[in-house]
Amino acid sequence: TAAMASRALNLFTICRRQFGTTGSLASKVAVLGASGGIGQPLSLLLKQSPLVSQLSLYDIQGVKGVAADLSHISTKAEVSGFDGPASLSDCLKGSRVVVIPAGVPRKPGMTRDDLFNTNAGIVADLITAVAKTCPKAMICIVTNPVNSTVPIAAEILKKHNAYDPRRLFGVTTLDIVRSNAFVAEAKGLDVSKVSVPVIGGHSGVTIIPVISQAVPSVSFKAQDRETLTTRIQNAGTEVVNAKAGAGSATLSMAFAAEKFVDSVLQAIDGKRGVIECAFVESTVTEAPYFSTPLLLGRDGVEENLGLGNLIEFEAKLLQAAMPELQQNIAKGVKFVKERY
Ligand code: NAD
Ligand code: LMR
Repeated sequence: TAAMASRALNLFTICRRQFGTTGSLASKVAVLGASGGIGQPLSLLLKQSPLVSQLSLYDIQGVKGVAADLSHISTKAEVSGFDGPASLSDCLKGSRVVVIPAGVPRKPGMTRDDLFNTNAGIVADLITAVAKTCPKAMICIVTNPVNSTVPIAAEILKKHNAYDPRRLFGVTTLDIVRSNAFVAEAKGLDVSKVSVPVIGGHSGVTIIPVISQAVPSVSFKAQDRETLTTRIQNAGTEVVNAKAGAGSATLSMAFAAEKFVDSVLQAIDGKRGVIECAFVESTVTEAPYFSTPLLLGRDGVEENLGLGNLIEFEAKLLQAAMPELQQNIAKGVKFVKERY
């Protein structure tokens, strides 16, 4: 029997290694703002994930049609649509992951901070419902301005004694996705093998690509590095201008959010070694929230992997980011202190 027990243990270890998990592989995921430009393609991508058992879609308009449409796709996830505030808690009940792309996008000439007045209240209200209904969920915030909406969410969660800094993420994955695409393009690399960390926040100068830490390592002339960095920082605006009033990035954002949610799902199901950058509560710099590479685990952030070595050019970008980042964060905190 000792031999049998040892064989069973070996088999268990092999299975764990093979599937990288001991979890249920079945999570309920809620998307808030599911009828929108991001919400629809994001929900489509999540419907294809084998890690999603239930896909719960919420919006204040049009979500029943989106849910009916997606529910005819022959994949595992069961889709339900929830229309309007009265159904929000039913949508959220039992969710392990909540993704929030609800809110207005930019038009040409606007900054992300110009969205604050409309989107701050939307995020605060949605997070209040999350705090009451599924306080243990992993919360992934896409709604801009991310530098402010994440502190808003944290302050609301604190008010409901439901704040766990390991479980609240501002989704900055699109900055990494873009950096990977642009670096691969510039260097003629296989983009599926390129990984560029992006730290800081998610707006203009607060976006800090750390090209010196790219994998595989790449070298650029100083001028080319600067041009590439500026393009990554302005990539959102590049799309806003190309869409000419019809909104901001939606398809690339859906891809990025699905990538991030997939990593969170794998980590909460027990996979080891999952690393993503995200905007979280942080002591890495003087800013109380900051994005850096994070090791994810069953309870969210397991370890903050920090800044790593920055070259002088990147250290200067970091310095330049701080005032705007601190202001954006303080504005979010103040909003909740004054209004809630
Ligand atoms: P959109 O206008 O196409 O869709 C937004 C959706 O949110 C709509 O369906 C709308 O009905 C819904 N909504 C509005 N108020 C709501 C509420 N109180 N509850 C639930 N749903 C509500 O906009 P979009 O292009 O999908 O962009 C959404 C947000 O994502 C914007 O704030 C945009 O700036 C942001 N964004 C962030 C990133 C990022 O990298 N983090 C990238 C792109 C866009
Ligand atoms: C992006 O980076 O594409 C988003 O933050 C949307 C925007 O307003 O640029």
